[in-house]
Amino acid sequence: MLKDKNILLGVTGGIAAYKSPALVSALRKEGANVKVVMTPSACEFITPLTMQTMSNNPVHVETFNQLSNMDVEHISLAKWADIIVVAPATANTIAKFANGICDNLLTTVLMASRSKIIFAPAMNTYMLKSDANIKNMETLKERGVKILATASDILACNDIGEGKMLEPLEILEEIDEALTQKDLSGKRFLITAGPTVESIDPVRYISNHSSGKMGYALAKMAKYRGAEVTLISGPTNIKPPKTDKFVSVTSTQDMFEAVKNNFSDCDVLIKAAAPADFRPKVRAEEKIKKDKDAPNSIELEGNIDIAKYFGEIKDKQIMVGFAAESIDEIKYGMAKLKKKNLDMIVVNNIKAQGAGFKSDTNIASIIDREGNIDYLKKMDKKDLANIILNRVKNLF
Ligand code: PMT
Repeated sequence: MLKDKNILLGVTGGIAAYKSPALVSALRKEGANVKVVMTPSACEFITPLTMQTMSNNPVHVETFNQLSNMDVEHISLAKWADIIVVAPATANTIAKFANGICDNLLTTVLMASRSKIIFAPAMNTYMLKSDANIKNMETLKERGVKILATASDILACNDIGEGKMLEPLEILEEIDEALTQKDLSGKRFLITAGPTVESIDPVRYISNHSSGKMGYALAKMAKYRGAEVTLISGPTNIKPPKTDKFVSVTSTQDMFEAVKNNFSDCDVLIKAAAPADFRPKVRAEEKIKKDKDAPNSIELEGNIDIAKYFGEIKDKQIMVGFAAESIDEIKYGMAKLKKKNLDMIVVNNIKAQGAGFKSDTNIASIIDREGNIDYLKKMDKKDLANIILNRVKNLF
């Protein structure tokens, strides 16, 4: 959660500095307070005025400014920050900080800081892989600095390889994770997400509208909060979050097998997926020709109810189910909670505006084993994920 967090962005002199204003903008949209320190070389690539406008705060460049309010600038900035993020971080600034050199305001602030620090390197591949830079990055890692990966691409120097700074939204996610309290560490979460797909023939299939967003939000937040996360996902069009293990599945039977392989090791199973309840009894090996052998109907058979199966055999595991309904969601949700022996069920009416499939928000009610119902307002799936995780945490 970045809201109201104080983020000090250090910008150093590399071409990737053109992405720094976008990072500031993204952080402010999340409600963070951002102040910027630029090295003199960074000012050759972008202007302090740009960063001032984007951050809505004065930009700091010089070490020897006239003191305002008799504040010692590098100390007050270091104390203000919940986290310092250097993006882009050049080989030069990495080397200076690794070796305790303070010859500009940014390196001085870094030395004076006791907060978390993230570096997002950006440089030519050979510089990145040079012995000196690798040693300097190792030194910083040993001191607790988080050094982000770089992407592989055509670089500004026309070389192809690693060294491209991560995109602003990727850096934002790393900051968010670093600032999140690790209150679920030591717990193992198994989370299912997305739809499953049941083939009719090599071309056609039966599925549903699940995008994976709800399950991915749960996996992402559980990981941010320090849990060990295994995510089992049906086919989706969105990028899965970073987890300890990711298992990609297609059919409900595949999802069942994947849950079975991971269930005994988990403390919590959250079933946010929308597995297909039925599959065609026969799957045609070749494409069904529409004019020749098109069937008038497709005979279906039932798939295994994964939640029910594990609800019946669970031992120590906490199990959270979801119910996607179009009417009477509380009534049906309560029945599913009991039938599947769940500890909690999250009910969403998929017909409500801003709820259920595909949207970034959801409107849910949480029902516990005692039948208590918590009616929640419309909120971001990420926020709902945190509420569900808080409820799970209370059950440990
Ligand atoms: O992915 P999004 O686009 O973000 O949408 C989110 C969502 C609507 C998919 C999600 O919020 C949700 O409601 N997921 C459950 C969908 C569903 O399958 O509901 P259900 O009422 O049919 O099933 C009840 C529970 O049993 C669910 O936990 C489901 O995962 C589980 N189930 C269902 C069928 C089956 N064969 N095996 C199961 O384990």
